Amino acid sequence: MKEIVPSPSAIVRNDHESVRELFAKNVVPSYGRFEIVLSHGDGSYVFDVAGNRYLDLGGGIAVNCLGHAHPAITGALVGQSKKLIHVSNLYFTEPQGRLAAEIVKRIGAGKVFFSNSGAEANEGLFKLARKFGHDEGRFEILTATNSFHGRTMAGIAATGQDKVKKGFEPIMPGFRHIPFNDLEEARNAISPATVAIMIEGVQGEGGVTPATPEYLLGLRALCDEKKLLLLMDGVQCGHFRTGKFQSFQRILEGVPGGEKFLPDGLSMAKSLGGGFPIGAFWVRAPFADLLGPGTHASTFGGTPLACAVALKIFEVIENEKLDENARKLGGRIQSELERLAINYPTVVKSARGLGFMLGLELVEKIPAFASSDKSVAIQFTNRLHAEGVMTIPAGTQVIRLLPPLNLKPQEAAEGISKIEEIIKSLV
Ligand SMILES: Cc1ncc(COP(=O)(O)O)c(C=O)c1O
Repeated sequence: MKEIVPSPSAIVRNDHESVRELFAKNVVPSYGRFEIVLSHGDGSYVFDVAGNRYLDLGGGIAVNCLGHAHPAITGALVGQSKKLIHVSNLYFTEPQGRLAAEIVKRIGAGKVFFSNSGAEANEGLFKLARKFGHDEGRFEILTATNSFHGRTMAGIAATGQDKVKKGFEPIMPGFRHIPFNDLEEARNAISPATVAIMIEGVQGEGGVTPATPEYLLGLRALCDEKKLLLLMDGVQCGHFRTGKFQSFQRILEGVPGGEKFLPDGLSMAKSLGGGFPIGAFWVRAPFADLLGPGTHASTFGGTPLACAVALKIFEVIENEKLDENARKLGGRIQSELERLAINYPTVVKSARGLGFMLGLELVEKIPAFASSDKSVAIQFTNRLHAEGVMTIPAGTQVIRLLPPLNLKPQEAAEGISKIEEIIKSLV
């Protein structure tokens, strides 16, 4: 498939400064970017315009589930684009129907709506909840502190972190936050206006914190008792990252009563398209027809092209048992990170996660970082970049590892050894 991947043009190959200038002059500066200009990738590695190679353990923030330039993705993109790229949702197309069936098969009886991003998938779930409670005047959705649900107006209202709301007030009404993993607080927070509770199975941006099995089962019972929808945001922790298709399936594995658990709605995006934009939400059967014709739409949602790519990704993950790889190799990396936390307590506070969604929490104050006002997570990430490894900061103290699901053992070993080198230099 190499012949259809063009080599990078001269401007991207050599000119870090000229690309920086294009951004400075023309791109809205809403992102805090690292000083790296990337040109191309191959498997778990990505290369900058100066030719430096990085082991990509961030996976484009949990997106590149098959790594970079995977021939199956390239093949699906080229093959489908020769047939149909887009037709709108005024018509039926086979890839969308087949992809919906693949998702339903892996979660449970229900239906799927396709969007283009995680925020948009969550927006759909918020609308579903509002429609569900509308005739009774119920509209309020409870979400967790430290959650992250996207950057749209409803997304920042739902997100339990002040930093995303600041400067955008008045915040959209109808959302309140409850402490994560605290069932009693959830019960106490329910008001006559409450219609739904939304949580992430594993909080990502909030610092890689899995929900406990008791919390998931307790929320299910509470939502049934109070006639609330239980919504889960699987945008980051979904798509086999934890070792099962969805994180609740991994968290509840072997837990009595866990086999019967289902949320009422679940959002997806990121790894669903492996880098090609696509989002979706699944809604459980009893509520699957609530959003009837004319109530919700997206021009690009579920294009034949996006769905063909997503279908191919399911096939590769299943054929190559990449869910098992995420579980086993992720477990081994986690043990190594735990060892680092034990061996270097003046630098690493703790390690946590599930499968290929891992977090290394650094101590709040690292003397070598004291002279900069940048967070320890950002400074640590910068040091890793200099050693040729990419990770993703979460909050001020956590670095996240969200590698491709086909990461190889020797790549994991390389990453761990470089992380340990940086830690040693900070002791
Ligand atoms: C849990 C979660 N939900 C929603 C989103 C928003 O997704 P998107 O950036 O595709 O809109 C993210 C993005 O990081 C996320 O991690």
